[in-house]
Amino acid sequence: MDPSFRRSLTLFRAFMREQADPARAYGLLARDAADQVERYMKLDGRVVVDIGGGSGHFTREFRRRGAHGYLFEPDVTELAASPGEGTVVADGYLLPLAEGAADVCFSSNVLEHVADPRTFLSEMVRVTRPGGLIYVSFTNWLSPWGGHEWAPWHYLGAERARARFERRSGRAAKHRLGENLFAIGVGPTLRHVRGRGDVDLVCARSRYWPVLPELVPRVPGLREFATWNLLLILRRCS
Ligand SMILES: C[S@@+](CC[C@H](N)C(=O)[O-])C[C@H]1O[C@@H](n2cnc3c(N)ncnc32)[C@H](O)[C@@H]1O
Repeated sequence: MDPSFRRSLTLFRAFMREQADPARAYGLLARDAADQVERYMKLDGRVVVDIGGGSGHFTREFRRRGAHGYLFEPDVTELAASPGEGTVVADGYLLPLAEGAADVCFSSNVLEHVADPRTFLSEMVRVTRPGGLIYVSFTNWLSPWGGHEWAPWHYLGAERARARFERRSGRAAKHRLGENLFAIGVGPTLRHVRGRGDVDLVCARSRYWPVLPELVPRVPGLREFATWNLLLILRRCS
């Protein structure tokens, strides 16, 4: 049940074992996200596009639930060894889709990896039909997980945290601030989506928080540290 301690703990445990058992971790996450979407719109028969979907775990789950699911991913090294049907190599800034083509435009943990999140969001809105849903979630910079593999040492500065990670692990860090990871905030993102004339904000919540997930993102200051991962459900209104 979402929200519940049990759900959060199950997701957290699977995430901690992600390297050892990625199929379980991503399968669980995909089912959880699909359940979140289905609170607002049933997936069966819908056109659902997943932007920056990596290896395609969400798209597989959407298809399993009867959706016409398509994965748009620019980095071929992120794709599964044999990418599933409906996989398109494409950048989220410029999707090869007609305006209003999708019933649901979905993006999980991509916004913090793009230099221009507003343009990325605008493209998601463009390809969603009026009345359709936009699901977008991201880990904000001041979240305890904001520094990704070098978290929580990013609180002491990105460069220092990255260097520490590389020294300790003996391998190159995947992320570099300003290149493929960007310092995005909860407050500025909420102000931006509230100020847009083309979407209604249906829900803003912590994606994983087990209690009152909609309360935390409402508290300025605290929300930057305690939200962990902001989930926005938007409805295209024009
Ligand atoms: C942390 S992974 C998230 C993968 C998947 N969505 C998930 O939640 O498990 C970030 C993904 O964003 C993709 N990405 C980065 N820049 C992008 C862009 N401009 N357009 C679309 N995807 C992008 C990356 O290639 C990568 O697959």
